[in-house]
Amino acid sequence: MSSPIIESRSPQDPEDVVIAVPDNDASTVRAAVEQGGLAASDWGATPALQRAGILTSMADRLAAGAEHFTELMVREVGKPITESRAEVARGVAILRYHAQAALDPDGETYPSADGRTLLMSRTVPRGVVGLITPWNFPIAIPLWKAAPALAYGNAVLLKPSPESSACAVALADLGEDLLPEGVFQVVTGGGEAGEALATDESVAAISFTGSRAIGNKVAIAAAARGAAFQTEMGGQNASIVLEDADVESAAATIAGAAMGYAGQKCTATSRAIVVGDAGAFTEAVVAAVERMGFGDPASPDVAVGPVITDSARRNVIDAARDAEAAGGRVVTGGTERDGAGYFVSPLVVDGVDRAKARLANEEVFGPTLAILTAADVSEAVAIANEVDYGLVGAVFTRDLNRALEVANSLETGLVRVNAPTSGVDFHAPFGGDKGSSAGPREQGKAARAFYTSVRTISIAPAG
Ligand code: UN1
Repeated sequence: MSSPIIESRSPQDPEDVVIAVPDNDASTVRAAVEQGGLAASDWGATPALQRAGILTSMADRLAAGAEHFTELMVREVGKPITESRAEVARGVAILRYHAQAALDPDGETYPSADGRTLLMSRTVPRGVVGLITPWNFPIAIPLWKAAPALAYGNAVLLKPSPESSACAVALADLGEDLLPEGVFQVVTGGGEAGEALATDESVAAISFTGSRAIGNKVAIAAAARGAAFQTEMGGQNASIVLEDADVESAAATIAGAAMGYAGQKCTATSRAIVVGDAGAFTEAVVAAVERMGFGDPASPDVAVGPVITDSARRNVIDAARDAEAAGGRVVTGGTERDGAGYFVSPLVVDGVDRAKARLANEEVFGPTLAILTAADVSEAVAIANEVDYGLVGAVFTRDLNRALEVANSLETGLVRVNAPTSGVDFHAPFGGDKGSSAGPREQGKAARAFYTSVRTISIAPAG
């Protein structure tokens, strides 16, 4: 019996089926885990220098195929071409970085109790690791998980979101004829495949990026069987604008962080919290939002393309109505565009009752910005911190003392001063606090700690 099929369609042209892939069931995942298990020990025993060489060759292939990957990303997930191109370049850099990081020291030595025994710790591969990834960074997120996992000697099973199946399949092809059979497998599918991966006793670690509801289930399933896990589950990120900020520049940065790729980033700015009078900032941010190119993501002038599905678009339109019901005003946007594709114009609201409006406390995952006001800095920080999420916080000011004060009080894993909440550095730790993340940080050197286990070894003289 053949398995049912999932179609990944282009959000700007839903008639366009980008790829049709199997909606794999639990038994297929089981078979893939078994195959990964068989491949893992040889791969783990392969010298790090050799693994590094293979990752570097994968980086070269990605660089050589950059335009193909860029076009595929634009078509499959509607990410504007300039951002898509930058993400592919980031993918190349991620592969190269982890290839080199595999050659870093892999342990420590300690003075032993008798002075003659060699006492040391070494990092060792975990075995088979499961990666569950979202559609919104269809190259960067699978790679920032898979590259370190492979570099440190694990076999990888990647279960991408159905909406980014084509990008994931193309990524697995990068390793073709370079990686031994079974070391990097992509298992397409939906919830059943993801659950099978998270609950499989032979999967030693699970790294997840996606929604909070599913992330928490993954964490519980992993913890219940003693597997390592890390879950990245979104944000409700605030940018605080102090009275001394350069309003024009803050507004342009915040508009980009809120609306770029139609706000479909866990790092997007959802709330601008203005200290004092918000009039000048509101005018400037609306002008900046309206200046952003909106439409066909294949056009280099476009920064805001479609959202991923019709229900995602409905969600944004409903959030505009909900903001009005919560006493707010729609300053611009929030309307659907006629014709094919899931386009909704970037939405800015103000004056909402924060306790009631979804845009002020939930992750809507679309092109939205709620402008809120605060009487002073401490109220602004309290508002920023009042949500359940804690991924990124930003502050705009020229006053270093104030910047430090806010940076020290934000309950977020990442803090930005005069910079957008979105955009991350692949060589620095990434992750959030509160409901945004659980488990250790991703990326940079933090990745080694997640994708390896530590073995403490003592070697004593014989007799
Ligand atoms: C970025 O802002 O460059 O899923 C990356 C997400 C985040 C990644 C953001 N985990 O949107």
